[in-house]
Amino acid sequence: MNTANPMIELKSVTHAYKTKAGPLPVLDALTLQIPENSFCAVVGPSGCGKSTLTRLVSGLMKPNEGEVWLHDQKVTSPRPTVGMAFQNPVLLEWRTILQNVMLPFEIVKSPMSKAEAHDRAMHLLDLVGLAGFEGKRPSELSGGMRQRASLCRSIIHKPDVLILDEPFGALDAFTREDLWCTMHDLREAEPFTCLLITHDLRESVFLADQVIVLSGRPAHAQYVLDVDITGKRTLDDLYTPKAAEMLATLRHQIQVAQGRATDADAPLDGHPTKAEGAA
Ligand SMILES: Nc1ncnc2c1ncn2[C@@H]1O[C@H](COP(=O)(O)OP(=O)(O)OP(=O)(O)O)[C@@H](O)[C@H]1O
Ligand SMILES: [Mg+2]
Repeated sequence: MNTANPMIELKSVTHAYKTKAGPLPVLDALTLQIPENSFCAVVGPSGCGKSTLTRLVSGLMKPNEGEVWLHDQKVTSPRPTVGMAFQNPVLLEWRTILQNVMLPFEIVKSPMSKAEAHDRAMHLLDLVGLAGFEGKRPSELSGGMRQRASLCRSIIHKPDVLILDEPFGALDAFTREDLWCTMHDLREAEPFTCLLITHDLRESVFLADQVIVLSGRPAHAQYVLDVDITGKRTLDDLYTPKAAEMLATLRHQIQVAQGRATDADAPLDGHPTKAEGAA
């Protein structure tokens, strides 16, 4: 993968939380590079530091050591060029879906006029299958529809970087697969660099160009898988021998991260490669 001009770069990032029981080391010299307009999924054991990573990349928190860079700027505070979506969409009930989607324009300066912003919101709602629901309140929508609206809101201001922390985790399997396809449609319509945190290995393989497996806490990049699927992806791509190989490798790496297996037990695939810099 070409990492010559990364959009997101972590340079040996180490972080510990202060707790009553003393410092809790969460990230340990984490180094990674995500190229512009690529999609990176991060998987790892629960509690290993994935959400912490999103807070550092978005500038909500500063690392104890090391540096986070977005494009050519060091991150020292929250950046307006970052969009975010989480497992719980948090839409404002007293606003319509359209007003919720347009919320970032009240927070972030944009060169778009009011009319352009409105048209863009309507276009995105149409793209994710919510045309006709723009005047509804969040409680009138299903969980999957709310998450679609939340995705529109996260990219309405054309962020350079989209950070998704388990956005599909609370949805049923069919709705989740629908939304994976929606993500591909959104990316096809307008490219962005995406960092996705997920527990779902199939999701990571279907959506990402590269999957990073974090070790147990304190986490470093234990393994990097380049997802070798060319052309427009369909759900059928998850049922090929190649996908089965990639999923077996990722499952094994998660077991290694959990301390339940060692590299010696690796599945015999020979397909993915450990990326440079991965420990
Ligand atoms: N503000 C905080 N203060 C103290 N400890 C924290 C804080 N936030 C997170 N932690 C601890 O840091 C560790 C990493 O948390 P984080 O939320 O980054 O993990 P995660 O990988 O996202 O977990 P999950 O997969 O369950 O979402 C956990 O042990 C958590 O208890
Ligand atoms: Mg988390």
